[in-house]
Amino acid sequence: MDQVTQVREKIDIVALLSEYIPLKKTGANFKAPCPFHSEKSPSFVVSPERQIWHCFGCGKGGDVFTFLMDYEHVDFPEALRDLAKRAGITLEQKSWQAGSASKKEKIFAINSIASEFYHYILITHPAGKKALEYLINERGITMDLINTFMIGFAPTSGEALSNYLLEKKKQIREDLIEAGISIVRRGRVADFFINRIMFPLIEHRGDVIGFSGRIFDTSSPDVPKYINTRDTIVYHKGTHFFGLNLAKESIKKEAKALIVEGEFDVIACFKHGIRNAIAIKGTALTDQQASLLKRFTSNVALCLDQDNAGQIAVKRSTPVLEKKGLNTSVVIVPSGKDADEALKNGELAFKMAIKHDINVYDFLLGKAEEANSSASADGKQKISRDIIPFLVTIENEIVKEHYVRKLSRVLDTSYEAVIKEMNKIVKKENQQPFIIQSKEKKSRKENLEFYLLALLFQNTNIFKGINSIMDFFTEEIFDNSANAKIFSYLISYCKQSVLFDMNSFTQILPAELMDSFNAFFLFPLPPFLTEEKYEKEVIKSAKDIKLLYLRGKIQLIGREMRKKEIEGDLDGLKLLQDEFINLTNMLGEC
Ligand code: GTP
Ligand code: MN
Repeated sequence: MDQVTQVREKIDIVALLSEYIPLKKTGANFKAPCPFHSEKSPSFVVSPERQIWHCFGCGKGGDVFTFLMDYEHVDFPEALRDLAKRAGITLEQKSWQAGSASKKEKIFAINSIASEFYHYILITHPAGKKALEYLINERGITMDLINTFMIGFAPTSGEALSNYLLEKKKQIREDLIEAGISIVRRGRVADFFINRIMFPLIEHRGDVIGFSGRIFDTSSPDVPKYINTRDTIVYHKGTHFFGLNLAKESIKKEAKALIVEGEFDVIACFKHGIRNAIAIKGTALTDQQASLLKRFTSNVALCLDQDNAGQIAVKRSTPVLEKKGLNTSVVIVPSGKDADEALKNGELAFKMAIKHDINVYDFLLGKAEEANSSASADGKQKISRDIIPFLVTIENEIVKEHYVRKLSRVLDTSYEAVIKEMNKIVKKENQQPFIIQSKEKKSRKENLEFYLLALLFQNTNIFKGINSIMDFFTEEIFDNSANAKIFSYLISYCKQSVLFDMNSFTQILPAELMDSFNAFFLFPLPPFLTEEKYEKEVIKSAKDIKLLYLRGKIQLIGREMRKKEIEGDLDGLKLLQDEFINLTNMLGEC
């Protein structure tokens, strides 16, 4: 057995997917809202028996590997590596070394060595002494925290890390450059980070994807305070959070993530026992970050800087979080510009502020009220212009109405006036029609075809189902070519075998038909109390399909006949007439 199959057999699809989505048992299968498109009623189905999944809303489907690939945005070798680890199977090098996953592995390995190197320099080497003193004395960071966050120091020499990786660790320069660790300076391989305190950026799964480096002596005011790893194949700006690797369990447990601005804020929170803090690193939250968060919690508290930039970040982040269905609140930092300072100024006050976080819409409305007078018409207009664009994005109608009422009270205006203003915005936005991710609509006949095949494949006695329609149903009756092909494979299988075995059947099926087949297998069917009722349903649907098929054909021939008549082609007409009569007779038998 090859290792891919070994891994697939060891991993239980239900256990794995349950870690990502709330699966509920329904009959032999499990169901959940699809994680790949937004929907209200669950159409994502998982079969423990066949170890497959399929979504009837967006059409995606597959096995444990494809789920992980789609969900984690990784390629096959990486998904294999992940699942093999989980299954306790040691992969032979060749099964995963090829392709970009091994490249990613390589970069993770280089980054990991680099983080140990930086850490070592900070805590033991004389070159790191000043930085260490700065951290301990000026920032109140303990040795414990330095170890927990693997904080390090990039020495001033400019080549130390690159040389270490090339000579001692036998890495090649192309990989160092691709990892963003080294650059070419005056024809030589040199370190990218120089004379900076180094924070490794560790993804929630534990891999070091990059670094951010902070200056600590302010002697050269022109250099940026922070430098991050440039975009590489493992590091993409705005797609992760600093500290998520350490905070994810607390975020799940407390059912809330505390979003702070920077590295020092996360570390200060951690120091004071606030373990669910993660940092966006000085920008507004992105779509990808919101999706990532959604996997751990549906509640988010924004604890951003009290300056203007921080307030803009709150406004930018709010619709992004709303769109992903996250409940957002704001923590008003009691004293100091950010969480780090606030904790220094008073731990208790900061913790109280977290406890009394306010809903983001209350917060925004409060801010708008502070800035404008709600007594004048002008002020009312300004407040409504500030707030209404946020209110229209609220997904939950009850929450939306709550804030519409609140705004109308604040402005001392009617509920209807607020609604009218909201509709203006909605209309404006709708000029760019909102695109629903829909596959082209299936015809009634195709839906019936699908239903029939689902009926056939989900019954324990497929042969019985087939036998009951054999004498009047053939593959040509199908409109959909995948349906027709699968049906013809089924017929030839039945002719050669005495018993139907799902596994041996899927082995003869070409790979491109697997998705369709899985869909038949997983489609939610009503229960049939008796075999008799089931058989009746099979026959009825097959007949309905045939009826539609015959009607379509008759219509077509009718049109052809009129053409022949006009052309005066009497022989042609005669042939068509015979066929017409034949078809109408068949229609009568249906
Ligand atoms: P002080 O509070 O002034 O001691 O500095 P800090 O290190 O806590 O950073 P600050 O509060 O000024 O900024 C918050 C976060 O924004 C930082 O942790 C960084 O992640 C990010 N940031 C700040 N300055 C820069 C910069 O120059 N470049 C980049 N890319 N990010 C920055
Ligand atoms: Mn700060």
